[in-house]
Amino acid sequence: MILDIHTTDSQQYISRINALIDGKTKKAFVHTFGCQQNEADSEKIRGILKSLGYKVAESFDDADIIVINTCAIREHAEAKALSLLGRLKGLKSSNPELIIGVAGCMAAEPHVVKMLKGNFKYVSFTVEPNMLHRIPELVYNAIVENQRSFIFSMDSGDIVEGIDAVRTSGHRAWVSIMYGCNNFCSYCIVPYVRGRERSRKKEDILSECRDLVALGYKEITLLGQNVNSYKDATDFAGLLSEIAAIDGDFVIRFMTSHPKDVSPRLIEVIRNNTPKIAPYFHLPLQSGSDTILKRMNRTYNTERFLSVVSSLREAVPDIALSTDIIIGFPGESDEDFEGTMNILDKVRFDMVYAFLYSPRNGTPAAKMDNQIPREIKNERMARLLDLQERISEEKNAPYLDTVQRVLVDSMKEKEGQLVAVGRAPSNKLVTFIADRDYKGEFVNVKITRAGRADLYGEKI
Ligand code: SAH
Ligand code: SF4
Ligand code: F3S
Repeated sequence: MILDIHTTDSQQYISRINALIDGKTKKAFVHTFGCQQNEADSEKIRGILKSLGYKVAESFDDADIIVINTCAIREHAEAKALSLLGRLKGLKSSNPELIIGVAGCMAAEPHVVKMLKGNFKYVSFTVEPNMLHRIPELVYNAIVENQRSFIFSMDSGDIVEGIDAVRTSGHRAWVSIMYGCNNFCSYCIVPYVRGRERSRKKEDILSECRDLVALGYKEITLLGQNVNSYKDATDFAGLLSEIAAIDGDFVIRFMTSHPKDVSPRLIEVIRNNTPKIAPYFHLPLQSGSDTILKRMNRTYNTERFLSVVSSLREAVPDIALSTDIIIGFPGESDEDFEGTMNILDKVRFDMVYAFLYSPRNGTPAAKMDNQIPREIKNERMARLLDLQERISEEKNAPYLDTVQRVLVDSMKEKEGQLVAVGRAPSNKLVTFIADRDYKGEFVNVKITRAGRADLYGEKI
């Protein structure tokens, strides 16, 4: 179902809290762990808190309400959130009126919620990712009723429109096009915590994009766990071409694409719309062994993956590619790992995000035999990073002497000089000496030095 926050019960809580806060200065701080989807959700949470009357706090210390937006993808991510929550206990003791809430993917894990309920008594509420629109009620319960709330509804297939996000950047914007995931890769917690796949209405997405362009946004990143399975009045390729047809000087990015659904039509749309659609594609491989891919339930093999890579490169020869790799999936033999190294060597990605496999409660892979010992995982990681560092450096070299249209994100002082830092169309980081503040603008930069991780240049 598609709901509008303005017509839900939340409205009455918003009015009541507004009346309570009226005239007083109350501030909210939202801290984000995890992926871009969570960054986008945090902007919505800030928007909801703003509608309640809260101003933006500069730090934890300065806040009357703190929301921690958590990630459950690996054990390490969960540990970081819990450790931060532990540190907030002191703040709550010195300020008993402080409200602390937990949002995000951990708030959709029953065992985590149970633990927060029992052992973190100073947490006032938890809210899973599909229920953000109910935050007004949870805040109301905390400040008026002095009551703790823990809500989930994992069968919710709702999409909530009309939440005004407080965007962090004035020039790069996230736009969620779909929520949830149906793929159930055997290692992954996301389908359990984000629910089933559902797509926003094409018209809602287009009107959000048009508004962003009118506001001067220079980059729009379309978000979804698997954008290629977007489905409304059109498919993802159709949606992309309609967004690309919006008038204005802006760049379109998207993530993430599942290799199984990269269609020839999608590649065609990208070809016909570069550089408005940025020449950059994130295509998660996960493993270069067909046996492991099968056990991961990825539903493609290495041959299919390589053929997608060739088609992308044929269509857009200078396209930059990045990928995700999981090291040490249960049963990963030396030979399987060599398969991954081989593909990295063959494809030569511009960038690789490699993760040590982390067993997730409730997923099939966590129960598989042959879990790989930590030392072996670490050894494989070191070898992979070593290989990829060389490849990334080689992939950066051809950028030397080219001119890149860089969207500037930040300015800083370095050795007494003003420098600008931004991203090229390929998503590579570019630093250049600047004569003034260029934040939020496109600047043509000639690359004079290609480093391992990033590029350096001069404005032309
Ligand atoms: N929907 C996206 C991925 C979201 S999670 C996709 O399909 O690509 C981001 C990355 O985290 C995944 O690509 C995977 O490489 C990694 N990941 C997911 N679960 C993991 C686990 N249990 N252990 C280690 N890495 C994991
Ligand atoms: Fe997880 Fe697979 Fe869905 Fe990506 S496609 S979110 S890796 S289950
Ligand atoms: Fe983490 Fe949830 Fe994103 S588990 S990676 S924040 S979808």
